[in-house]
Amino acid sequence: MGARPAIAAALLLAALPARAAEYAALQGHGGPVRAIALNGDGTALTASFDYSVGYWRDGAPTWLEGHRAAVNAVIWLGAGRAASGGDDFDVRIWDLATGDSTALPGHEGKVVALALAPDGGLLASASWDGTLGLWPLDGQGGAGPPRFLDGHQGAVNDVAFSADGARLFSAAADGTIREWDAATGAELRTVIAHGFGVNTLELGPGDAWLAYGAVDGGTRVIDPETGAEIGDFTLDRRPILAMAVPPAGDMLAVGDGEGYIMVLDTDDWSLARDFRAATRGPVWALAWAAAGDAIAAAGISDTAYLWPLDGLSGADAVLGAGERSFLRDPATMTNGERQFARKCSVCHTLTGDGARRAGPTLENLFGRPAGSVPGYSYSPALRDIGITWTDETIDALFDEGPDHYVPGTKMPMQRIAGAQDRADLIEYLRTATDPERSRP
Ligand code: HEC
Repeated sequence: MGARPAIAAALLLAALPARAAEYAALQGHGGPVRAIALNGDGTALTASFDYSVGYWRDGAPTWLEGHRAAVNAVIWLGAGRAASGGDDFDVRIWDLATGDSTALPGHEGKVVALALAPDGGLLASASWDGTLGLWPLDGQGGAGPPRFLDGHQGAVNDVAFSADGARLFSAAADGTIREWDAATGAELRTVIAHGFGVNTLELGPGDAWLAYGAVDGGTRVIDPETGAEIGDFTLDRRPILAMAVPPAGDMLAVGDGEGYIMVLDTDDWSLARDFRAATRGPVWALAWAAAGDAIAAAGISDTAYLWPLDGLSGADAVLGAGERSFLRDPATMTNGERQFARKCSVCHTLTGDGARRAGPTLENLFGRPAGSVPGYSYSPALRDIGITWTDETIDALFDEGPDHYVPGTKMPMQRIAGAQDRADLIEYLRTATDPERSRP
């Protein structure tokens, strides 16, 4: 158990149940926070590297001790109970009133994710031993004999139940998402083979969609029945580490290794918010307040933060305008347009419509001196570089990467390795940034 700083009084979680209008910090763990679970009644659970589970009520934590290593996952079981999973290979069930717990041994690797069947009768665990564990809960804080589902060719990173609880979906380092029969444990099929390891998955209400995030930054939404792509939100940010959906199912939050949190509106898959967590570093854990009006996140720091969605602005928070939809039939898009949609649109508009983005508008980009959009607050590096944007300079910007081409720029590090992709992007930008040519 790591040394834990004395608990400061700065715990504002009590503000949660009404409306989460306040920024709040869950402060007190003695190591990074790996998982967060918020409850509708304003209580919260956190899991930490410091071997403990934090149970937060009225702004104060109770430390649940029992794991013999870092705790990676935590969920509510209802009826005053919670479950956690740790690097000690154990799943633990907690009685939150007493702090007592029962270990459920059996996994032979770290337990990194947990899911509860909709009827509360079955707990599923994802483990780096390559299996899924299924634990029938007895309602008394214990569990019947587990079943281990074997089939993945590598560490299992995440697990979710279908809406009716009859099936399970699992995401693994072998790059696949698989579907299982929850009653028999039989593997039903491989839903997708992404290639790169899949870190996280979420199912929409009624299994209307399945979203997943991968090591290569892949951020996709598919139809879980057919595997057909509903949307591709991949940016040059990797890896994708965390996803969360509020109880209403109307939003999807995506956290990545570079500290960004993107919020998509699942009605039309438009970008609702995109901001960089003030703490920087990877976003390992995300959780929504029950009302869907605030989001909690944690990463490398010992503190988890809760942000009211409406308050996401200012130096470290970058707002997407929300009127844009990624949902386009990729077949109707040119490669250049696709490059822009995936790699640039989250931060740049093409027209000077005033929509707020992290970067300046790209309207009339060609022939424009660098750093010259009035009212945009450029970095000194870009403002003073003394170049003009042309095919050649834009090509060089993404061939070398902004961090090399404009050392000190605010534009995040990203390269477009393929010469053809750069050429297609530039060709698209030539038309799309020209108000005369892009408007019908
Ligand atoms: C995560 C946000 C982000 C992404 C993604 C992004 N940019 Fe930027 N971009 C910025 C920021 C911020 C600046 C301003 C940099 C500065 O002031 O140093 C900028 C500046 C620029 C500039 C210089 C504009 C000027 O007025 O001088 C160009 C050109 C540009 N970006 C093109 C692109 C293209 C093309 C893409 C996609 C391949 C892209 N950007 C992706 C954030 C981003």
